[in-house]
Amino acid sequence: MITQRFNVPTEWRIHSHYNFYYKGFLDMVNELPSYFQPHSLPVTMIEIGSYMGESTMMFASIGLFKTIHSIDPHQGTEEFNELFGYSWGDVEKEYKLNTRHFDNIIHHKDFSYNVVDKFEDNSIDFIYIDAEHTYESVKKDLELYLPKLKVGGVIGGHDYMSDFWPGVCRAVEEVVGTPTQLFQDSSWIKQIGCIETEDKIIESEPTEPTEPTKSTTLI
Ligand SMILES: C[S@@+](CC[C@H](N)C(=O)[O-])C[C@H]1O[C@@H](n2cnc3c(N)ncnc32)[C@H](O)[C@@H]1O
Repeated sequence: MITQRFNVPTEWRIHSHYNFYYKGFLDMVNELPSYFQPHSLPVTMIEIGSYMGESTMMFASIGLFKTIHSIDPHQGTEEFNELFGYSWGDVEKEYKLNTRHFDNIIHHKDFSYNVVDKFEDNSIDFIYIDAEHTYESVKKDLELYLPKLKVGGVIGGHDYMSDFWPGVCRAVEEVVGTPTQLFQDSSWIKQIGCIETEDKIIESEPTEPTEPTKSTTLI
């Protein structure tokens, strides 16, 4: 079976001898413990866009999270389904298989904007956004979910690639500023120092787009 992380389409692997969608993501997951104080562990996360649960399973495997809220409606248009002829039934079956070892994963089978009120402000340590990749959609998810993040929490997502997904980069730069770290699979993460929860403004103003401050080989 062709998947989005474990066994990516051959044409996605050009310029590389290995599957950097897996390695880059794994590098990001392996970096996460360094962002949290040992005494604050285990922490809580939200993943927006889980698809077959490959990324969810990798987040769960690091053992850092008390609870993983995985949000995906498993319905609607998904380009990957169209490319490979998968139904949402196929995707859900894979999701269940990939997440079967973990009882700390809560699946919210809905769109992110419908379930945002289930989460208290200032209650989540890590948020990863990998849903739709348009500017509007990424901006909406960032703005809706940023207030849920604790002070000192980490927010991130996928497809920070200006050539392919300029809307993702623009939304990230506008809402949270330049990522702290980028990874080979085009994942980005940023630690948020201080948030004013009342009017939901980040204290450090978003900056003009610049090179990321810390980076592992970005493709
Ligand atoms: C690129 S896939 C996610 C891949 C997964 N993170 C991984 O790396 O294995 C995008 C997923 O986002 C979901 N999605 C799209 N819009 C969404 C929304 N507003 N809220 C939650 N999920 C959404 C789609 O159903 C699809 O399963």
